[in-house]
Amino acid sequence: MKRNSQTLSQDLLQWFYENKRQMPWRETNDPYKIWLSEVMLQQTQVATVINYYNRFIERFPTIESLAKTPIDEVRKYWEGLGYYSRIKNFYEAVQTVHKDFNGQVPNDPKQFLNLKGVGPYTQGAVMSIAFNHPLPAVDGNVYRVYSRLDNDAFDIASAKARLHFEEKVLEDMPEAAGDFNEALMELGAVICTPKKPLCMLCPVQQHCESFEVGNVLERPVKLKKIKKRVEHYDVYLIENDGELLIERRPDGLLASMFQFPMFDTETHISNVESQLDMSLTLFNEPLMTLKHQFTHLTWHLTVYIAHTNDKKKASQHWMSREEKSQLTFPTSMNKIYERYLSSL
Ligand code: ADE
Repeated sequence: MKRNSQTLSQDLLQWFYENKRQMPWRETNDPYKIWLSEVMLQQTQVATVINYYNRFIERFPTIESLAKTPIDEVRKYWEGLGYYSRIKNFYEAVQTVHKDFNGQVPNDPKQFLNLKGVGPYTQGAVMSIAFNHPLPAVDGNVYRVYSRLDNDAFDIASAKARLHFEEKVLEDMPEAAGDFNEALMELGAVICTPKKPLCMLCPVQQHCESFEVGNVLERPVKLKKIKKRVEHYDVYLIENDGELLIERRPDGLLASMFQFPMFDTETHISNVESQLDMSLTLFNEPLMTLKHQFTHLTWHLTVYIAHTNDKKKASQHWMSREEKSQLTFPTSMNKIYERYLSSL
């Protein structure tokens, strides 16, 4: 299904204009009030915010009235709302607006973003709702709505999620940018809900790929942060007559690539000798330590140089410097080899 941005935004906006819930900050064009509402709504539900918002605005109806009141009195109007750094930052930002912007919230997304506590979400929401700048305002609701509209399995827990979904919103952004952002939030809050979405009442059902496929409850995808396994190994660079002992890795991670022999750090040198069937003279100080990250695993490698005079066996692979470039080694092993060469 290829979505049509224009009909999508038209259908959504028409629904929003006919069905939007009444909220005090939806009755105003005052950017200060819209900004306050967005700060309050960031971590708090609409029903709770309404009372706090009304009390706050009644006491501090303008930037000036807020800026001229000591912070400790202002805090009382936030008491119980939680996430108290919000009011500290908002108050500081309002002081800046009062002093540097003549009490006018800057109608400039870059200047607004510079104010204390204003991140990309608040920037997009306030600049679009108050001034109709065509900026996305992507919150959890919007992740959910767009994951479903596009049947998009992008991990919303990933650090790149906001940028990913901002791009999608921008592609569909109509002239009425602020209304579109609010309509997306509203849809996410009342129709496109996490557990029991009301798809039968959804104004954009015919644009929704997840509805068509029937996997609405599987979107959005939020992957659990997996704890990486950590493994510690000792790596041995074993010299014999100008050559180094190497071995092929078994199936699995880095299958069939070459490596210098490596052993769990618990393995005593006498066990290394018996497993390799050779006697070793070990230089006690490690050549280096190295941390190597795989997707699900971290290696901590401690590298030792060792020497043997034992007769070379046919079952062993001794590598000359010339041969090195013919063989494939993992990155960690190449780093070790580079360091080894430069230590000679
Ligand atoms: N949540 C965050 N901003 C909102 C807004 N402007 N309207 C409704 N819910 C919201």
